[in-house]
Amino acid sequence: MDLYEYQARDMFEKHGVPVLPGIVAETPAEAKAAAEQLGGGTVVVKAQVKTGGRGKAGGVKLAHSPEEAEAAAQAILGMDIKGHTVHRVMIAAGAKIAEEFYFSVLLDRAERRYLAMCSVEGGVEIEQLAVERPEALARVAVDPLTGIDAAKAQEIVEAASFPSDLQGPVADVIQKLWTVYANEDATLVEVNPLVRTEDGQVIALDGKVSLDENAGFRHEDHEALEDKAAADPLEAKAKALDLNYVKLDGSVGIIGNGAGLVMSTLDVVAYAGQAHGGVKPANFLDIGGGASAAVMANGLDVILNDPQVKSVFVNVFGGITSCIEVANGIVGALEQLGDEATKPLVVRLDGNSVEEGREILAAADHPLVTIVETMDGAAAKAAELANA
Ligand SMILES: Nc1ncnc2c1ncn2[C@@H]1O[C@H](COP(=O)(O)OP(=O)(O)O)[C@@H](O)[C@H]1O
Ligand SMILES: [Mg+2]
Repeated sequence: MDLYEYQARDMFEKHGVPVLPGIVAETPAEAKAAAEQLGGGTVVVKAQVKTGGRGKAGGVKLAHSPEEAEAAAQAILGMDIKGHTVHRVMIAAGAKIAEEFYFSVLLDRAERRYLAMCSVEGGVEIEQLAVERPEALARVAVDPLTGIDAAKAQEIVEAASFPSDLQGPVADVIQKLWTVYANEDATLVEVNPLVRTEDGQVIALDGKVSLDENAGFRHEDHEALEDKAAADPLEAKAKALDLNYVKLDGSVGIIGNGAGLVMSTLDVVAYAGQAHGGVKPANFLDIGGGASAAVMANGLDVILNDPQVKSVFVNVFGGITSCIEVANGIVGALEQLGDEATKPLVVRLDGNSVEEGREILAAADHPLVTIVETMDGAAAKAAELANA
């Protein structure tokens, strides 16, 4: 889960990372009041959207009075930044910036450890710097067991060539940012820019934080950070039902067990769809190992509520869960859904106890269900029905 800048700011503050005061506003009037609350001096009005490059897109504006802050908020609210509509701005105290730096720490899956990146040339697009002048971006491996302690922070600031008088203060902030990363179970903490102000303070002026949702059970407060209003309603429903669901834009609803099987089902359906007016998968949905009637019903419930879905392809491979249970799950789900089930279902079962499973489906003889033996055949049938 990615956080908004204002949420990252609050999290930084909680862990002692120096930040400037900031107040969220949803209307120009609120923005004016926020600027007054911050003392009536210079503020920065910042679009709160989960994408970078807000400054370049005109989503970060300096305002020298509460009236200017109001006007800036007026201009920024409703703006579209890379496909994200601005619903909120943060009014932040204005910093007198002397220098801008870059720091991030992230999960390096390939190397099975963490990676800290740091540069004395921050504020700019870091991807560009990494390509054009890779030597200006220090990369320092971080051992997960020791993290960023004082020695590692010192190694980072030296690798990034900070002048000696800045090494101490920057290393101190880096250690606090590591506390955010480790204690909040983040997978990314990025500060661009980290600045030195004219009066010599080191402050995080922007913050990007991604949290590991798998660690959510350890952090009761993280759920409140979720932006429920911005989530796709079907994805929100699936999440509430504990389903691994991702909405896509096609018309063939997909249910399968196992992420790998579901991924290949998407490919097979997209391929088969080419012969049927270019129909595509409507979603990814992995119901996992225990494909019980309840889980199947929940899955079908989400998919059948997607108005774009015209047909459903249930592709299950019986492994530990036998096809008998899966078939009973499908029959039970259709019974539970009753009249709500209105779209044709193509079912492909294979694996453990497949014959018995198919017999159960055949005996139930549900008018909406077609059994197809092969995955390719079932994909073609589902595509055909979606295009009918
Ligand atoms: N509180 C602030 N005071 C002064 N300048 C700021 C402040 N916040 C951001 N800026 C300036 O605006 C630039 C862009 O803001 P930033 O928060 O990094 O957004 P983004 O990375 O999305 O463009 C920063 O590099 C900095 O120069
Ligand atoms: Mg930035």
